[in-house]
Amino acid sequence: MLQNALRAITGFEELKVENKAGIFLVDESSKKLRLFTTFGEFSKEFLEKEREVPFGDCLCGRVAESGQMLMSESCFADSRHERVYSDMTAHGHYIIPLKTSDKLMGVMFLYTNTNPDWYQHSQEVLLSIGGLIANAIEKKQVDDELEKYRNHLVSLVKQRTRELTNANARLLGEVENHEKTQEELRQLSIKTEKIREEEKGNIARKVHDELGQLLTAMKMDLLQLDKKLPQDNSGLRKRAHSIVGLIDDTIKSVQGIAMELRPPILDAFGLCEAIAWQAEEYEKRYGIQFNLNCLQRHIKLDKELEITLFRIFQESVTNVVRHSEANQVNIETLHESGQLVMKIQDNGIGIQKGKIEESNSIGLIGIRERVRSWGGEVQFSGTAGKGTTVEIRIPIASK
Ligand SMILES: Nc1ncnc2c1ncn2[C@@H]1O[C@H](COP(=O)(O)OP(=O)(O)O)[C@@H](O)[C@H]1O
Ligand SMILES: [Mg+2]
Repeated sequence: MLQNALRAITGFEELKVENKAGIFLVDESSKKLRLFTTFGEFSKEFLEKEREVPFGDCLCGRVAESGQMLMSESCFADSRHERVYSDMTAHGHYIIPLKTSDKLMGVMFLYTNTNPDWYQHSQEVLLSIGGLIANAIEKKQVDDELEKYRNHLVSLVKQRTRELTNANARLLGEVENHEKTQEELRQLSIKTEKIREEEKGNIARKVHDELGQLLTAMKMDLLQLDKKLPQDNSGLRKRAHSIVGLIDDTIKSVQGIAMELRPPILDAFGLCEAIAWQAEEYEKRYGIQFNLNCLQRHIKLDKELEITLFRIFQESVTNVVRHSEANQVNIETLHESGQLVMKIQDNGIGIQKGKIEESNSIGLIGIRERVRSWGGEVQFSGTAGKGTTVEIRIPIASK
């Protein structure tokens, strides 16, 4: 753009300038002019030496300092023309400040022949051309600055997008890991529960079978012995009878322990029968009335899931007995849109909200864990004076 300007100016005959010109730009921070472009023939030496001109130095430096246009009739005669070159030939100068309304952008020099006529008219034209060039330079510099800023913004946005994308990928990975860990914990919980129940089953069988047989054998032996006791020794015979009674009690107790560990009815007949049997036991023991509604009987449930549900039922009813002051319990199990639902509802004082969330409510935590290990949900709810409901939902694969 500046080259074109110089060409146009030097080509304008009325101005009577030579085909040699150039433009310096201002470097405000170092107070120097820097040669930006030239038009016409200049020696290597000139271009090298004129790369930088301090403010106040030679003709151009003086214009930079004063901001005023300057004419010089001959480089050899003018003492202000401090810079000389080996190939310098006599010439005159227009030195024009390139000024916007408030700022010096550069200095333009035009060669003339020596001792030209300085038309007032040419000076005015050149000054206003200088103003136009200054405005163009300023606009270009602002544009460049804006472009730089825009590029910076674009690269910032790109960088930030990259960072976010990475963070996102990392988070997704973490979520995946977390989900995997949860699934592993779930599997572990299921396995532990299974092993525990198996152990209970083993112990129950051993206690029932081995201890039971031993006790029965003892009872038989004792009855044999009793027959051989002298008829008239009533004291001894009484002792023998009471020992038989003790052995009978022990057998019952052993059966009870075995039942408690693992009701055989659960393995033999399934959840509904086991709940019915247990409810009858509780009715006898605590005088609580049970209403049972087993609506999912026709669905074949996983054995381990049946054990889990049975244990939850036991824990819930234990809570009813210990905390609720209820005299009625409704138990309902049903199959609803791919879920096994179990509801245990009492008519007692109602569980308090705070107790539901309390972290030391070990019984409730145990129920939650058991349900979660099957990927299900549990909800405890209570109304003061009306009772408590425990509702469990566990997804089951419909077969
Ligand atoms: N059916 C219920 N009716 C009223 N309150 C209950 C019932 N079940 C549980 N709660 C309350 O919730 C608390 C936490 O129960 P739980 O975790 O089983 O602990 P624990 O039975 O060992 O006290 C109980 O202490 C009791 O205050
Ligand atoms: Mg409890």
